[in-house]
Amino acid sequence: MTTPSELTLRRPDDWHLHVRDGDMLRAVVAHTARQFARAIIMPNLKPPVTTVQQARAYRERILAALPQDTAFSPLMTLYLTDTTSPEEIRLAVASGFVHGVKLYPAGATTHSDAGVTDIRRCHGTLETMQETGLPLLVHGEATDPEVDVFDREAVFIERTLAPLMKDFPGLRVVLEHITTRDAVQFVRDGDDRLGATVTPQHILMNRNALFQGGMRPHHYCLPVLKRERHRQAIMDVLAEGHPRFFLGTDSAPHPKGAKESACGCAGIYSAHAAIELYAEAFEQAGALDHLEAFASLNGPRFYGLPVNEERITLVKESWEVPGEYPLGGDTVVPLRAGGSIGWRLL
Ligand code: NCD
Ligand code: ZN
Repeated sequence: MTTPSELTLRRPDDWHLHVRDGDMLRAVVAHTARQFARAIIMPNLKPPVTTVQQARAYRERILAALPQDTAFSPLMTLYLTDTTSPEEIRLAVASGFVHGVKLYPAGATTHSDAGVTDIRRCHGTLETMQETGLPLLVHGEATDPEVDVFDREAVFIERTLAPLMKDFPGLRVVLEHITTRDAVQFVRDGDDRLGATVTPQHILMNRNALFQGGMRPHHYCLPVLKRERHRQAIMDVLAEGHPRFFLGTDSAPHPKGAKESACGCAGIYSAHAAIELYAEAFEQAGALDHLEAFASLNGPRFYGLPVNEERITLVKESWEVPGEYPLGGDTVVPLRAGGSIGWRLL
């Protein structure tokens, strides 16, 4: 396919996003609202969003932080713990604004210490999710410290996710931010109740980007970048237009100093240019004709929501990404900082 100079798509949605809270929230949410109509908001605040009441209050804070005249709609999630009750799931479904429940294996990533220590403790709650159709959104990494960090996704699928999906044949599951050929294969082999989100970094970079000329903390996220053959497998399934893979940036802002540190935080900030970065990856793969389904159609279909009627336009025009953006009293270093991106959102 020859590259067009302009691309018009239905307005996309972001099915996996961290917007934080307070000053950080006010600093980042406009970037997302400029591009996306809706976003699934991750609940890993401190303390986590574990109840519908907390999700309602967090949603109000997000709406209050939006610039005037944006139609952006936050889709809320609950943070699953060992003690989340079936009643809370029923309240979530009845609320109309909670669209999923997030499983963080305890210790797997940023602010996951309140996460699930053993999924068997959640069986009653998962039964209610299965019955009501509320999706389980999964951070798919094994937490056993013996497991190599690059193998954690594959081991989680084998030891935890595959058995879980056998035990709950009706449970709807999104395997979030997939990074491996194993995850692609697992989702491909699944049925309509299994979907996956893909970040821009996991299709634009492989693990070499962590060590390009030195340690690169701004390329560190979880699950960590993998080998080229894994990046290629993810891009291949997207280039084929598979309907159960959809856009989820996992944009996760951290203050610059918290990343450039002896023990740097995991998380890549991409909200400033997400759709442009995806356009670049799809262009490289010769798959621009599948970008709209990935960004704007497959997610709503999985979540049972209407597609957006509004359109956005991307032009093939290079622009320079700033070295940092304000983040409350701090700054955040965005993906591609100081470099250029070949597509621009009008
Ligand atoms: C996320 C964060 O910072 O909240 N970090 C990340 O590297 N992706 C947490 C997460 O989604 O794992
Ligand atoms: Zn995330």
